[in-house]
Amino acid sequence: MKATAISHANIAFIKYWGKKNTKLNLPQNTTLSVNLDNLTTTTTVEFSDEFKEDSVIIDNEKSTDEFNRTIKFIDIIRNEAKIQLKAKITSVNNFPKKSGLASSSSGFSALALAGSSAAGLKLSEKELTILARRGSGSASRSIPDGIVEWKEGDGNKNSFAYKIHDKDYWDIQAIVLIHTTKEKKVGSTEGHEFARTSPFYDQRLKIINSRISKMKKAIKEKDFETFGLLLEEEAIELHVIAMTSKPPILYWEPKTIEIMKFCQQIRNDKNLPVYFTMDAGPQPVLFCKKKDTKKILSHLKTLKGIEKIIVCKPSDGAKLTSRHLF
Ligand code: DP6
Repeated sequence: MKATAISHANIAFIKYWGKKNTKLNLPQNTTLSVNLDNLTTTTTVEFSDEFKEDSVIIDNEKSTDEFNRTIKFIDIIRNEAKIQLKAKITSVNNFPKKSGLASSSSGFSALALAGSSAAGLKLSEKELTILARRGSGSASRSIPDGIVEWKEGDGNKNSFAYKIHDKDYWDIQAIVLIHTTKEKKVGSTEGHEFARTSPFYDQRLKIINSRISKMKKAIKEKDFETFGLLLEEEAIELHVIAMTSKPPILYWEPKTIEIMKFCQQIRNDKNLPVYFTMDAGPQPVLFCKKKDTKKILSHLKTLKGIEKIIVCKPSDGAKLTSRHLF
């Protein structure tokens, strides 16, 4: 009873910030995202009566802070599969954890697929998105391929994700700029809880469905400029909500603002269509058309203090692999 899955982090075009049910990870609004091919988590899960206790190893270290959350999720799987066997879980990320690069999306989607397969559960893609969501809301979107919509729903069964476009649908690329690998102080799970204390939160919920429709239309029409402007509007709004919640959460570093301004500057001065977004962290992710990536990268080289640049294209969702980690 061993299975391994590889999954990709996704970045949301339309994000969620605030949950309507914390236990089930039901988001306050529907969201849209894309899976990123070069940000991966690979996870092997084995259930065996030879194990005396559960063990979790993440990035070659025995996990302490992630242990409880991981095992709580494994318990959901054990419960559904009606097994009591102990589990060995080993996981590796190819990018820094907890730096606002959505490691929970790739992490819990890989764990959902590997764990449910190792437990002998035969789940449909929709059921897998529901299961992954229980681990981390955004993980539901890393199960299907390509560009994905996660329907908010109002219960466990109808809050699920599905593909709206294939990975090859649009020749867009994401440029992930890592300028700090420090772990962020307030994780998304905690941040979601404060969202509604922002005086601007109700206003966000009033307009979000109209923004989702506009964004879906822009993607359908491959209207990159409209898409990009909505992308920035949405990312800034999420951070404004975070900054104005009680207590306020400031994810941005000086470098974050420098990169956002730099992005707008090369867009305006060099006539290069490039737009930013970011999740609950300090790392901006720039979106551009594939044909412009090289030029944009050559401009970005002039920026100081960037530790790593990862260029990603849209990717498939979570898949099983026979290459086990142990
Ligand atoms: C800002 O899904 O990571 O990235 O369910 O508590 O793990 P938990 O939260 P998570 O929150 C993601 C927040 C976000 C926006 C988004 O991805 O939609």
